Amino acid sequence: MKPPRKLHIKSYGCQMNVYDAQRMVDTLAPEGFVETADVDDADLVILNTCHIREKASEKVYSELGRLRTAKDEAARNGRTMSIAVAGCVAQAEGNEIIRRAPVVDVVVGPQSYHHLPQLLARAKSHGRALETEFPVEDKFGFLAPPKPDAIRARGISSFVTVQEGCDKFCTFCVVPYTRGAEVSRPVGKIIDDVQRLADNGVREITLIGQNVNAYHGEGPDGRIWPLGTLLRRLAEIPGIVRLRYSTSHPRDVDETLIEAHRDLPALMPFVHLPVQSGSDRVLAVMNRKHTADDYRRVIDRFRDVRQDIAFSSDFIVGFPGETEEDFSATLALVTQIGYAGAYSFKYSPRPGTPAADMRETVSAAEMDERLVRLQELIDSQQSAFNKAMIGRTVDVLFERAARNPGQIVGRTAYLQPAHVMAPAGIIGQVLPVKIESLERYSLLGELAAAAPMQPAFAEMKSSHVAPSNITTGA
Ligand code: SAH
Ligand code: SF4
Ligand code: F3S
Repeated sequence: MKPPRKLHIKSYGCQMNVYDAQRMVDTLAPEGFVETADVDDADLVILNTCHIREKASEKVYSELGRLRTAKDEAARNGRTMSIAVAGCVAQAEGNEIIRRAPVVDVVVGPQSYHHLPQLLARAKSHGRALETEFPVEDKFGFLAPPKPDAIRARGISSFVTVQEGCDKFCTFCVVPYTRGAEVSRPVGKIIDDVQRLADNGVREITLIGQNVNAYHGEGPDGRIWPLGTLLRRLAEIPGIVRLRYSTSHPRDVDETLIEAHRDLPALMPFVHLPVQSGSDRVLAVMNRKHTADDYRRVIDRFRDVRQDIAFSSDFIVGFPGETEEDFSATLALVTQIGYAGAYSFKYSPRPGTPAADMRETVSAAEMDERLVRLQELIDSQQSAFNKAMIGRTVDVLFERAARNPGQIVGRTAYLQPAHVMAPAGIIGQVLPVKIESLERYSLLGELAAAAPMQPAFAEMKSSHVAPSNITTGA
């Protein structure tokens, strides 16, 4: 074992980056790296970047400016601070980063994280190192799995990547270029990962992928399994009480996924299903390859099998050519569907994407105004959805002690935070909570039944939550 060195990772962007950051920590742990929250104290700082919108990628260069000061300060104190840029900006602009930012020692694209130890060694001997190829080997086979203590420290809810990359090429989007072609991990590997997490106290798994329901991994039977079949298998793993997946695409919702929602109590009735626009004309220019009606029909199929299902979405306003009429169609779609929440963004042209060559027709002021109108509508739907919880008894999976002493916080099926006064022993359990009030986005309530005696999460080895504690449906 090498002497301990301190590692600080700062992640931007999507859940995939959050997950990748953990894999990088796990891969660097055998090299003697331990995580630190204090960037100034770190021997290695990794910026795990996002390229999705202009503002997201600008952050990298301003952060690198601050890191230059920290690196100089470390050098004055006789320490070496190495700086690595990972993530989607590294992939898209690796050479430019090397040119523009001499402070950077290593640039590593998302498909090369398993090479981090070698890249750091190469930077040490050669000054700097860059790797942004899409290697032929599957990086997942080489990334270190987390150690039991790391899993426990990360809590009861965990992401697991099942699919990466995207073949859809929406005209506005950088993901197919930064993450490469769609790849699905084999079922057996995912089962092993989930089993390991469950054995170490994880109760909730969110399967992630840029296009998670395009999943088509090789099953143990030699056949190709769709996401619904994978979810069905994972629901059998003892200890796993909640399953989620993100982000899904309306075109890839197949019958196995609908049936999984019909049959699996562990599969949460909350689906992030981005639509981007309610106008067929805009959807066509975006290359989404579906209409607003196709989307409505997909929503109906989910609702037919799970009446309590709720949706969130992503929207882009001000896409090139979007007229007031197109935008009204988006508002109409939002009104009709009724969301539990949604993200909306101003269109941001990204270098190298087809839309970047389209003439922008929506002024900055119009974009601002449309964003405000859309967000007001979404906010009103979200607060109505949250308010509707008051007075109901809903299942909450308890995650951790809250800031207020004696309070424990968990999440409902719809990811709403819910607080109760209760003993810490309930952490890791799903219990019914009578919701009494709403404070901003947090629900407050009390346990609807006495807290059953269970060992506290910290003491749990591989004891699983007894099925009698699991109530489903809201
Ligand atoms: N795979 C997901 C989306 C991934 S990107 C899907 O297909 O829906 C996350 C969100 O960022 C997108 O849904 C979109 O709303 C937004 N986004 C992506 N590119 C953008 C751009 N160039 N400008 C503004 N928003 C963008
Ligand atoms: Fe981007 Fe479209 Fe792929 Fe989603 S489906 S990641 S928006 S190209
Ligand atoms: Fe950003 Fe890359 Fe995720 S561009 S949203 S970090 S896939």
